[in-house]
Amino acid sequence: MRESAKLEIASTPENIINKTDSIALRDISTESTSSSTNVQTEAQSKNGQISKESGLTIVRRLSGKKSQQQSELEQYICSDSQPPSVTTGYCSYLENRLKMQPTSLNDDLERIDLTTENLPAVDTPDACDKAAIRLRCLLRQLQRGEISAELLQKNLHYAARVLEAVFIDETNDDGSRLSTEPSERDGHNKLKKSNSIAVTEHRRGVPSTPQTHSGPTGLPDGKNAVGKSFIQRRRLRQPVWARSSSQKKRLADEDDELSEVQPDAVPPEVREWLASTFTRQLATTRKKSDEKPKFRSVAHAIRAGIFVDRIYRRVSSTALMQFPPEVVKVLKHLDEWSFDVFALADSGNCMPVKYIGYDLLNRYGMIHKFKVPSATLETFLSRIEEGYCRFRNPYHNNLHAADVAQTVHHVLCQTGLMHWLTDLEIFATLVAALIHDYEHTGTTNNFHVQSGSDTAMLYNDRAVLENHHISAAFRVLKDDDCNILQNLSRDEYRELRTLIIDMVLATDMSFHFQQLKNMKNLLTLAEPSVDKSKALSLVLHCCDISHPAKKWDLHHKWTMLLLEEFFRQGDLERELGLPFSPLCDRNNTLVAESQIGFIEFIVEPSMAVCSDMLEIILAPIAPIANSNNNNSLSNKAISSSSNDEVAANTLNVPKEASSEAIVCEKKDDKPMSGDVEKPTRFKIKKPWVTCLLENKKIWKEQAVKDAEARALAAAEQENEKKSLEIPAVETKVEE
Ligand code: CMP
Ligand code: MG
Ligand code: ZN
Repeated sequence: MRESAKLEIASTPENIINKTDSIALRDISTESTSSSTNVQTEAQSKNGQISKESGLTIVRRLSGKKSQQQSELEQYICSDSQPPSVTTGYCSYLENRLKMQPTSLNDDLERIDLTTENLPAVDTPDACDKAAIRLRCLLRQLQRGEISAELLQKNLHYAARVLEAVFIDETNDDGSRLSTEPSERDGHNKLKKSNSIAVTEHRRGVPSTPQTHSGPTGLPDGKNAVGKSFIQRRRLRQPVWARSSSQKKRLADEDDELSEVQPDAVPPEVREWLASTFTRQLATTRKKSDEKPKFRSVAHAIRAGIFVDRIYRRVSSTALMQFPPEVVKVLKHLDEWSFDVFALADSGNCMPVKYIGYDLLNRYGMIHKFKVPSATLETFLSRIEEGYCRFRNPYHNNLHAADVAQTVHHVLCQTGLMHWLTDLEIFATLVAALIHDYEHTGTTNNFHVQSGSDTAMLYNDRAVLENHHISAAFRVLKDDDCNILQNLSRDEYRELRTLIIDMVLATDMSFHFQQLKNMKNLLTLAEPSVDKSKALSLVLHCCDISHPAKKWDLHHKWTMLLLEEFFRQGDLERELGLPFSPLCDRNNTLVAESQIGFIEFIVEPSMAVCSDMLEIILAPIAPIANSNNNNSLSNKAISSSSNDEVAANTLNVPKEASSEAIVCEKKDDKPMSGDVEKPTRFKIKKPWVTCLLENKKIWKEQAVKDAEARALAAAEQENEKKSLEIPAVETKVEE
C-alpha cells in the first residue's frame, strides 16, 4: 500500500558500492593532480572500530632546476630551489642555518655518528632535526665516497620513517604557508612535525585536548570562547579540481629533471627497498631479515629517492576523487551566497552531495587532518546521497542536502566564522549539514505522529525525523567502507558525535522559536559568551531555511518543490482520512501569502539573530575574520557579486574587502581628544538581506495577482451558479 510505504523508513541498503580504501600503489601511471597521499600502513582499532592508520601523509617537493654542484640526492631530500617561504619545516630552517652558519653546521656534521642506534622516536619534532642533519651528513660522506651501503641504508630508512610522519603542505602557492594550515590534530598523537614547527607560533591556543562544548564558552578552561588566545587564522586549501593544471606543469618540469637521472632504470634492489620501506603489501616479499637489498651505487640511491617521490605523487592522484569538467565549472562559484545547486546536479550526474561534500571536506583540510581515506569518503558520500534519493522527494533530497552544506560553507568562510572554530568543529558542522535530512520520508514530523509511523513509535513522537537522520547516518558510518571517522581518536569521535547530534536535532522546526529566543536573550547580556554548539546549531538551522534568502529563481524553484512535497503529503492525508496539515491541501493553499509569512516570521528573524550572534562572537577576532579566505579560488575566479557591491558601498569599504566580512573599528585604542570613543561594531556581509527584500516584494506582487485571480474566479463561479439557477426558475415558471 502506498501509505505504508511512505510511513516506513527503509533500512540501510545492502548494495553499497564496495571500494577499497587502500590506495597502495595502484595505477601509478596516471598523471598526478595532487601533492598528497595516504599510504595505509597498519590496521588498528579506534573508536572501538577497526580502522587503518595512514602512515605517510605527504612527501612532496617543488620542482626547479638545481645547480650542478648540488647532488641529486640533495634535491630529493631537501630542495633548496624552493623559495624560502614555500619551503616548509625543517628543510628551510636547515638551509638557512647552512647559509648563515656554515662553519658551525659543518662542524656539527663532522661530529654526527651515523652508526648510532640511539635516535629519537620518528614522530617527535626532534626526529625531524636529527633526520635532516643525518641526511646532510650522508650527503657529505657520499660526496667523499666514504659511506658504506649498510650505513646509507640504515640512515635513509630512519629518514624515511621520519618523513612518513611529516606533513608538508604545498598547496599554498603564495608563500604564506603559516596561515594555510587550519591546525594540527587536536589531541592526536600523530602531529605532523614540519607543520607544527611552522605553525605553532601563529596558532596559539589551539586546545591540546578535545573540547567538551559543555561549558558556556565551549572551551575546557572556561576562557572566553571569543578570546583572541583561542583563535586561528585559516585559509582554505586549493580544491582538488583546481590543482591539476599547475601541478601537471610542475610534474612535467620534474619529469624533465627525472629524465636526467634515468628513472626508468630503477634497479630491482631499489624497488625492493622501496617496497619494504614504504608499502605494506610488498614488505612481505622480503623473506629473510638477512636478505637486505644492496645498492649498486650511489646513483641508485638517488634514483630511489626520486622514484619514491614520483610514486607518492601518482598514488595520491589516483586516490583523490576526479571531478568532471562541467562540475568544476559550477564549483568555481561555490563561495557565492546564491550558488546554483541545481546547475551542479545537472552537471554532476545528480550527485551534488558527493561533489560538494568532497570538495568542502578537502578545502577545509579535513581529509588531511582527520586522515579520511579518499575512497572511504567517496563511498560514504555516495551512500548518503542514495539515502536522500530513497523516497524520491521533490524537496528533501540530495540537492537540499548539498544546498545546505554549501550555505554553511558560505557562512563559515565569508563571515570568518571558520577562524573561531577548531578543525573538529568544522568537520562536525560540514558533516551535520550533509546528513541533516538523511533518509527524509518527504513527510513532516506531524504526519509521522498523526499516522503513528514506525519512526514516530521509535522516537516517541519527539523530533522524529531529526532523530532518524542522525541515527541512520551514524549507522552508515559504522560500515568500514563508509567510516570517514575511522582515524579519529575516541575523544575526538565523542566530541564530533555530540556536536552533530546537537546540531541536527536543532533543525527540528518545533524548536525554532525557543532556539531564537534563547540566543536573543543571551546576546542581550553585557558580556555574552556563546556556546559553540549553540552557535553552530543556529547557523545550521538558518542555512536549512535559507532558500527564501537566496536569489529569486532559486527560491522560487525550492518553494515549488517544497509545496509539491507538502501537497503529496496532503494527498496521503486525504487517503488516510487525516486532517490536512498546514500548506498540504493542494486546492486550498495560499502560496504567495504563506511565503511572505515564512519570510517575515521565520527567515528574517532567524537571519537577524544569527547575524547579530556572528558579529558578536567574531568581533574579538575581527582582524582575522576580516582577512579571511584570501585564497578562496572562486573569489579570485569571479568578480564581486552585486550583493557584495551593495555591502561594500553601503558600508563605504574598499571593494577588495567586500567579499569578506567587514569590520568597522577604530584604528587604535586611544580615545580621540574631546570625543567619547564609541567602538564601532564588527559587521559581517549580509547578502541575504537584499534577497529577502526582493523575494518578499515579488511574493507580495504575486499575492495581489493571486487575490485578483481568486476574486475573478469566485465571481465567475458565482455567475455560473446564477446562470444555472435562472433556467431552473424559468423551468418552474413554465411548468
Ligand atoms: P527541513 O528542511 O527539514 O527543515 C526546515 C524546514 O522548514 C523544512 O524542512 C520545511 O519544513 C520548512 N520550510 C523550508 N522552506 C519553507 C518554505 N519556503 N515555506 C514553508 N516552510 C518551509
Ligand atoms: Mg529537517
Ligand atoms: Zn533541511
